[in-house]
Amino acid sequence: MTVLVTGGAGYIGSHTCVELLNAGFDVVVYDNFSNSTPESLKRVMQITSKKLSTVCGDVRDKALLEKTLEGCDAVIHFAGSKAVGESVEKPLEYYENNVYATLCLLQSMRRMNIKKLIFSSSATVYGNPEFLPFTEAHPLRTTNPYGQTKLVIEEMLRNLHVSDPTWSIAILRYFNPVGAHESGLIGENPQGIPNNLMPYIAQVAIGRRQCVNVFGNDYPTKDGTGVRDYLHVVDLASGHLKALAFLDRPQCTAVNLGTGKGYSVLDVIHAFSKACGKEIPYAILPRRAGDIAEFYSDPSFAKELLGWAAKYDLDKMCEDMWRFQCQNPKGYEE
Ligand code: NAD
Ligand code: UFG
Repeated sequence: MTVLVTGGAGYIGSHTCVELLNAGFDVVVYDNFSNSTPESLKRVMQITSKKLSTVCGDVRDKALLEKTLEGCDAVIHFAGSKAVGESVEKPLEYYENNVYATLCLLQSMRRMNIKKLIFSSSATVYGNPEFLPFTEAHPLRTTNPYGQTKLVIEEMLRNLHVSDPTWSIAILRYFNPVGAHESGLIGENPQGIPNNLMPYIAQVAIGRRQCVNVFGNDYPTKDGTGVRDYLHVVDLASGHLKALAFLDRPQCTAVNLGTGKGYSVLDVIHAFSKACGKEIPYAILPRRAGDIAEFYSDPSFAKELLGWAAKYDLDKMCEDMWRFQCQNPKGYEE
């Protein structure tokens, strides 16, 4: 079986390619390298001792995409833009690269008669919690343009499936992916100042930044700092393999991929400190605009439907993240 992986050179895509190759799939990565480098794919091949094909292309380039889709059986669609803050500044760019690009992909897949798709959605589609943990039945109403693009795409996929029930679509709603491959060869490689907590902590630990800014300690949570459901990226990648198996049945289903456990910002700082053997300096700042106090998943539907559950705990997430950071102090640059 050949899987086309859009955005396969990125953080989650590269880890998923490792799992796909190890499981014996043929992999074609389609990426424009706007937020990644071909180096990650070299390392995927190094880890697995297997080859994948790479096409440098934009998802909006339908001619090239259709040519690349020839001979593929399914698509995992990671490509897109993902920074919440940037989406507030540049909403049209986000609708272009997320909604319009996905529309192009769906049109090309339909033309090529390929109807199996896994789509990267996000817990951000749930917005402010009405109840916790978030089940898939929680109302959908997001609070930022990035989340809105995910919601529009989800709706587009549900509409498509109603119009043609032979499509088989898994919408995976990721909670907070962190960590890196155990080899230390691939991991998250943020450009500029990291927006997300764990890569920021890792850069403080390695000495690239002075101290972690904790955005708010006055939330109604156990220690006042924000609580999230952090998930090891290798667990997340393995969830995609389980979802691929499920694509044998035509349907359009949304599934949470999380651990079901919530950890506070201070929990993460302490766990990382343990993993790297150093104190992590931090300072309390005001809340970050738009942040939610606390959210975590109910992962039981993923278990029931896909037979998937996360295996790795927060300590392992930090250990693997730290190994990647030590082996690649400047990311993939060197
Ligand atoms: P990433 O930026 O590391 O990877 C995305 C990849 O897509 C990059 O390699 C980039 O070069 C490529 N790309 C972007 N636009 C493209 C286009 N028009 N054509 C071709 N390639 C393009 O991001 P990631 O963290 O691996 O996230 C993957 C997906 O998961 C995204 O859709 C993101 O919204 C979603 N997601 C991520 C998180 C997270 O915290 N990382 C959480 C929830 C959902
Ligand atoms: N935080 C800090 N300091 C930082 C960065 C973050 O204190 O430097 C705090 C935040 O306030 C929050 C927690 O750490 O309480 C996690 O923040 P992240 O930015 O790491 O993650 P978010 O939950 O805000 O957002 C992430 C992705 C979104 C996605 C969402 C749900 O960035 O794209 O998870 O999946 F939508």
